[in-house]
Amino acid sequence: MTALSAFSPTALAGRVALVTGGGTGMGAAIAAGYAALGADVAVLSRNVEHLRAVADPIVAAGGRALAVQADVRDPDAVAAAVAATVAEFGRIDVLVNSAAGNFRCAAADLSPNAWRTVVDIDLNGTFFCSQAAAAAMRGGGAILNVTGDFVDTHGDRMAHAAAAKAGIANLTRTLAKEWGPAGIRVNALAPGPFETDGGTQALGRREAFAEIGAALPLGRVGRMDEIVAAAVFLVSDAATFVTGATLTVDGGHSWSGYHLP
Ligand code: COA
Repeated sequence: MTALSAFSPTALAGRVALVTGGGTGMGAAIAAGYAALGADVAVLSRNVEHLRAVADPIVAAGGRALAVQADVRDPDAVAAAVAATVAEFGRIDVLVNSAAGNFRCAAADLSPNAWRTVVDIDLNGTFFCSQAAAAAMRGGGAILNVTGDFVDTHGDRMAHAAAAKAGIANLTRTLAKEWGPAGIRVNALAPGPFETDGGTQALGRREAFAEIGAALPLGRVGRMDEIVAAAVFLVSDAATFVTGATLTVDGGHSWSGYHLP
């Protein structure tokens, strides 16, 4: 029993979704979850091997998936990825901006290029992909950004990612206002602690998740199907009057006073 079983298996049938950062972690789980609920999915990553590992099982299960290699920091590559998605599936209805870069580093030790790299992937990448996808959405659509449950507080040894994610939170509302009249909803997911490879890399060790989980109101870190279910809700017909919103999915992490080790 997963959180996804709360949805009809055809909840996203007929939709075409482009998921950036779809090769690993949360993006890969969202791509697989959308496909399981009937969507055609284009997965975008810099790494072709990661892409195949996500797209091939979707196709093997009878779904439709397209692997698109691109770097979200490159606006031309992003435009080409959106064009490839439309060429393959005939339309684009949903964009998930899941591509992200992060690592723990004290602000004083961040090199200019380290700062620039994370802001470029997270904030600039989200903007480039949103602009290109929105231009290709016909008759409306849904964009889902990924921020973090720390955007309203601070990012401990993550000044770069926290600033970029806070920028995405604001961008979410501005784009929701500008594109609402075109029927495009723009929302954000703010995940708390979930055990992903990227998160493990950022924290330095996998055991940290059990320690974090034990200190949360729900006593555990999140399961991937729980973030995927929230990502389904926000782009689905269950959320047609939701725009400019951020859904925090963190087991109570953001308000319970617990800080990452
Ligand atoms: N601490 C401090 N600086 C770091 C760092 C760390 N742990 N990791 C990378 N950097 C710096 C590099 O030294 C480089 O700066 P420099 O040129 O001044 O030396 C800069 O960041 C760019 O690193 P580079 O490896 O060239 O960038 P990249 O584009 O190949 O990779 C990253 C981007 C660094 C964000 C990489 O970690 C990545 O691709 N992550 C994707 C997965 C991920 O982070 N997911 C997070 C989910 S929460």
